[in-house]
Amino acid sequence: MKVTIIHGQTHHGSTYHLTHTLVSKLNCSKEDISEFTVNDISYCVGCFQCIFKDEHLCPHRKQLNPIITALENADVIIMDSPNYVMGMSGQLKAFFDHLAYRWMSHRPDGEMKKKIAVAVSTTASMGAKTVTKQIATQFRWWAVGQIYQLPFTVAAASWDDVSGKIRNKIDIKTDKLASKINKLSGNVRFNLKGRLIFFMNQNIQRGLGYNPVDVEWWEKHGWIKKKKSQT
Ligand SMILES: Cc1cc2nc3c(=O)[nH]c(=O)nc-3n(C[C@H](O)[C@H](O)[C@H](O)COP(=O)(O)O)c2cc1C
Repeated sequence: MKVTIIHGQTHHGSTYHLTHTLVSKLNCSKEDISEFTVNDISYCVGCFQCIFKDEHLCPHRKQLNPIITALENADVIIMDSPNYVMGMSGQLKAFFDHLAYRWMSHRPDGEMKKKIAVAVSTTASMGAKTVTKQIATQFRWWAVGQIYQLPFTVAAASWDDVSGKIRNKIDIKTDKLASKINKLSGNVRFNLKGRLIFFMNQNIQRGLGYNPVDVEWWEKHGWIKKKKSQT
């Protein structure tokens, strides 16, 4: 299976190691893994080019291209961030902002339904689940087929300070999650919540369809019928 890892931080702390503990248990070789950090991606400037015209007009598209290609090629997507004041890192949020056009409310990638995604976070005391939920929301709206969350309270500021007891727990949890992913990969069914959101947006595109670029996308993929042109 092909695995794409996207880190919301550059340093190799607890979050990085939690992600890699999971990855080391997946049925993939080194060549199957693509790994990125998002720290060099510029902030979204709110130009709306991606949403109303074409994502390739984004002023930062060159920076994004390799990551987006790796996302498209992946069977399993893993994205991580430490908890920073009860949220994901600013860098990771800046990356997600650039993918707004891929939300089901605009032009989702139909292939996402076949993929598995994992949201990973660590925290010193509270909030890892808050962060994985935030990341999982992005996956949900990208129309990812199966979404997992791996939040961990590590009670430490660095990986070296994580106790043996917590490392044991990490081992057990990542064992369980990896075996689920190894079984499921290649046989993913689009989850119910995702299907409901897709259905809701199908109706919106069919009815309101305020953005012609989005409507055309839904028509092109056969998700809605082409509207008859009015004479
Ligand atoms: C800027 C910053 C903000 C943080 N905010 C919180 C927080 O709100 N709650 C908490 O329990 N830990 C917080 N932490 C601690 C980290 O979430 C925790 O140590 C985490 O495991 C660090 O992961 P890393 O080793 O991958 O960097 C914060 C750390 C930093 C650097």
